Amino acid sequence: MSEPKPLAVITGASSGIGAAFARALAGRGYDLALVARRQDRLQRLADELNNHFHAKCTLLEADLTHETELRSVEEFLAGAPNLQLLVNNAGFGSLGRFYEAPVESQDAMHRLHIMATMRLTHAALQNLTARDQGAIINVASVAAYVPRPGSTSYYATKAWINCFTECLYLELKTAGSRVRIQSLCPGFTMTEFHDVLGIERNFISSAWWMPAEDVVEASLRGLEKGKLVVVPGWRYKLLVALTRLMPRGVLHFALTRGPASVRRERKPSK
Ligand SMILES: NC(=O)c1ccc[n+]([C@@H]2O[C@H](COP(=O)([O-])OP(=O)(O)OC[C@H]3O[C@@H](n4cnc5c(N)ncnc54)[C@H](OP(=O)(O)O)[C@@H]3O)[C@@H](O)[C@H]2O)c1
Repeated sequence: MSEPKPLAVITGASSGIGAAFARALAGRGYDLALVARRQDRLQRLADELNNHFHAKCTLLEADLTHETELRSVEEFLAGAPNLQLLVNNAGFGSLGRFYEAPVESQDAMHRLHIMATMRLTHAALQNLTARDQGAIINVASVAAYVPRPGSTSYYATKAWINCFTECLYLELKTAGSRVRIQSLCPGFTMTEFHDVLGIERNFISSAWWMPAEDVVEASLRGLEKGKLVVVPGWRYKLLVALTRLMPRGVLHFALTRGPASVRRERKPSK
């Protein structure tokens, strides 16, 4: 009997960066488990990956902010004998002042970006560390480095992902484990992310937008090299480096000036 193919589990695979990870990994010989709420999207992607790459796809329809649905994905991760990679990618943005936004959407963001990332990483590590192989990619953002006003929970939860991933990197290294872990920090990426927020892409020059495929290639190249943090694109590498060097007071001055210091989500048209 032939060896089973390595398995990659991708959350938020129904669009954007998650779908680009699925295509890139299917092309590298992985079978996939695709996680998201929109089953029709996952089915279309699975058909495409099966036709092009003969990739076997398991569809896991789950709202990761719901306890029972999150638990079913945890159980899948803990029990998959050929698990090689988990990509914690599902996420969404928010706009407007924290204290003016409904607490329910802030709560959902913390459940998705923090609780789901923590729980799925824990389940995957039970499996991967026992076999001393495989990897986890946690999708954070350049937002993790720049504490802006107007999207508090987004910036704070992405900073948590970076810190969580760095601590795990050190734990795995000091334990002598071969399991790798990466924090992927993209800048503006052409996906449905900003459509969901209801904002046009022309608020920033086209030079800053990156295709999801380039972001994913940078991540997978970084994973091969064992890089802890991957910031795709030279502009964003420079931005992150400058932000880290800048005195906090100067950064705060720059971030609290100008008309766009706090953006708001577009109200749905009646
Ligand atoms: N686009 C950017 O500019 C950018 C920049 C930096 C970081 N990021 C990060 O990249 C990641 C992917 O975003 P994207 O840009 O690819 O946006 P996207 O195209 O809107 O994709 C978001 C994905 O997350 C899934 N998702 C959202 N809520 C979910 C929930 N409650 N349960 C399960 N899945 C859920 C969505 O699937 P369903 O709706 O089908 O559930 C979708 O597949 C996010 O973590 C985001 O923060 C994006």
